[in-house]
Amino acid sequence: MKILGIETSCDETAASVVEDGRHLLSNVIASQASLHAQYGGVVPEVASRQHLEAMVPVVEAALREAECSFGDLDAIAVTHGPGLAGALLIGVNVAKALAFSYSLPLLGINHLEAHVYANWLEEDDPPELPALCLIVSGGHSDIVLMEGNGRFRRLGGTRDDAAGEAFDKVARILGLGFPGGPAIEKEAKNATSTQLRLPRAWLRGTNDFSFSGLKTAMLRLARGENGVTPPIAEMAAAFQESVADVLVEKTIAAVRKHRVATVMLAGGVAANSRLRELLRERSPVTVRIPRPALCTDNGAMVAAAAFYKAEDGTANGLALDIEPGLGIGRS
Ligand code: KG4
Ligand code: ZN
Repeated sequence: MKILGIETSCDETAASVVEDGRHLLSNVIASQASLHAQYGGVVPEVASRQHLEAMVPVVEAALREAECSFGDLDAIAVTHGPGLAGALLIGVNVAKALAFSYSLPLLGINHLEAHVYANWLEEDDPPELPALCLIVSGGHSDIVLMEGNGRFRRLGGTRDDAAGEAFDKVARILGLGFPGGPAIEKEAKNATSTQLRLPRAWLRGTNDFSFSGLKTAMLRLARGENGVTPPIAEMAAAFQESVADVLVEKTIAAVRKHRVATVMLAGGVAANSRLRELLRERSPVTVRIPRPALCTDNGAMVAAAAFYKAEDGTANGLALDIEPGLGIGRS
């Protein structure tokens, strides 16, 4: 079964053809990051206009690279939430037009579930369930229990900034540019000392996180309010360590409590090498993490998430609408 996955929820215009939910036949991503960098963050109106320009060429490239035509496809899948409303509208309307024109089933996909399903891509075996998923992106940070395909239960998450948002804000404080995650990771590698230790908000007894205190601590440090300002690389390394430590400890606590078979990382922040390393070091169960390029937004994960729905014969029809505030597994 070949599915075209379309993704436009934030600042990546992406399309991919995936076979049987795991074989990547193509994966085309037009990133707008350099355009938004001059504003220090994603500007929604600019993102929508860019999606409009890039969408058709990106879909054409995805089909070309996969060496298939619309007639070879079995379904069209598109992210319909959560995300920026104007950005989601472009992907959803293009997907609807294609599904209508080529008489293909249309599937609306939850972006956060799609991030989780990136763990099915390029692997021979699906992850063993139940699994504990840590979804950490620019807009969301959730600890979710996955009991079966499409069956998610949210256990907790951030009470303030998403992990990626914290990386982006702290990168701005340190003058490292946008997007902040990769910039902080790169700078942290230059640290010559790991003595600097920043606070961690444990919120014990919960599956929740908070990054606002850490962000304030970084701001004070960068402004020299504690005396001497440490080198930028040391501050970047200490920040990254603090975020990774808290995320991994809280995830492992949930893994033990729920006795899952697998723990999975998902979302843009899952590309972070220190987070990946710490989880692998500390996990008592099998760890699954997509390769970094499949952690950040892409169309392949959308097609992977759609596969199980398509197999069941689920389809949305042309009434599919955007859901900018969609969450995952909320009771
Ligand atoms: O999942 P994603 O591509 O888009 C959203 O759904 O939000 O995540 C983007 C976020 C950004 O905040 C970016 O700074 C962060 O993921 N990110 C990283 C890394 N690569 C991307 N954070 C830490 N380390 C990285 N290597
Ligand atoms: Zn994302």
